[in-house]
Formats: sequence, C-alpha cells, structure tokens
Amino acid sequence: MTFNTLELEITNFELGERGEVTHKPSITLLNALGEDGMRKMVSDFYDLLIKSEIADLFPQDEKIFAMAKKHSADFFIQLCGGPEYFNKERGAPRLAARHMAFKITPNGRIVWLECFREVILKLDISDDLKINFWKYLDVFSNWMTNSPEDG
Ligand code: HEM
Repeated sequence: MTFNTLELEITNFELGERGEVTHKPSITLLNALGEDGMRKMVSDFYDLLIKSEIADLFPQDEKIFAMAKKHSADFFIQLCGGPEYFNKERGAPRLAARHMAFKITPNGRIVWLECFREVILKLDISDDLKINFWKYLDVFSNWMTNSPEDG
C-alpha cells in the first residue's frame, strides 16, 4: 500500500449552515470502486462509527446495524448515478429531515468525518476521486448538523 499524504480538511461551518454542494460524486467513483467496493467502504466506515465517540447514535442491535450499512451504501451507490436502490427501499432521501431524529452536533459531524476520512485514505482509487468525494462529504455533512454541543 502506498503511504498517503493527502490532506483532507474539515471546514468549520456554523451550526446547520448549508453550503453549496459543488462536488457531487459521479459514476467515475462508482466505477472505480464497484458496488462491492462501495459497500465495503460503507461497512468499514460504520465499523469505525460504532467504536467512536458518537457510537450511541447508531443502532446497537447487530441486525439493525447491518441494515443501516445497507441503506447507507444503497444511498451512496445511487448518489453516484448507480441503481436507485435507496429510493426503492426507503423513498426520497430528504436526508436533513431524516437526520432530525438524531442529535447531530458540530463535534459529532467532525467525528463522523474523521471516521470517513480514515476509510477514504485507504481506498485504492485516485487522489482526485478521494478529494472530490471528500469535498461532498465535508459540505453536505454540515446540512445534517441540527443541535448545539450542549442542549
Ligand atoms: C454527507 C453527509 C451524510 C450522508 C450522505 C448521510 C447519509 C445517511 C443515510 C443514507 C442514512 C440512512 C437513512 C435511512 O435509511 O433512512 C443515514 C442515517 C444516519 N446518519 Fe447519516 N449521513 C450524513 C451525515 C451524517 C452525520 C454527520 C451524522 C452524525 C454525526 C449522521 C448520522 C446518522 C445516523 C445516526 C443515522 C441513523 C442510523 C443509520 O441508519 O445509519 N449522518 N445517513
């Protein structure tokens, strides 16, 4: 494996700030990873989340946790222009609304992004694809922040 020195930075947004999503991932990412690679990426990411500071937000039951991985991978595959698995099973994404059920703080977002970054840096794809995907996650993750740190 090559040593990866890519710097994927986390932007410091205001709580709930909805920056323009300018780097939506495309079919190039899906083609580079394949559907199986995309599912492995999401699975590895969730395995980090469930050991992280924000583990409590995620399903603790093994079967429900596996479904959460599936739904999330379905979303990312669809986002890249793949089959509409998510829409078929879960309906329109409306992700900010779906995330309202959870207390997502600015620090929670940082932990979430740090877990994703760890997985992205190990992917066997070009730096350009990693940077592009990261920019999407960096901006769009802040759309999900809905709660101040204490409260
Ligand atoms: C780019 C940003 C994000 C995307 C694309 C995304 C995507 C998703 C998707 C597709 C689901 C499944 C929804 C369903 O099946 O109904 C989900 C669920 C969830 N997300 Fe996110 N999310 C993002 C950011 C975040 C952040 C920042 C947090 C917390 C810090 C978070 C926490 C959760 C939790 C707790 C769930 C419910 C459990 C689960 O199904 O995984 N998400 N997210």
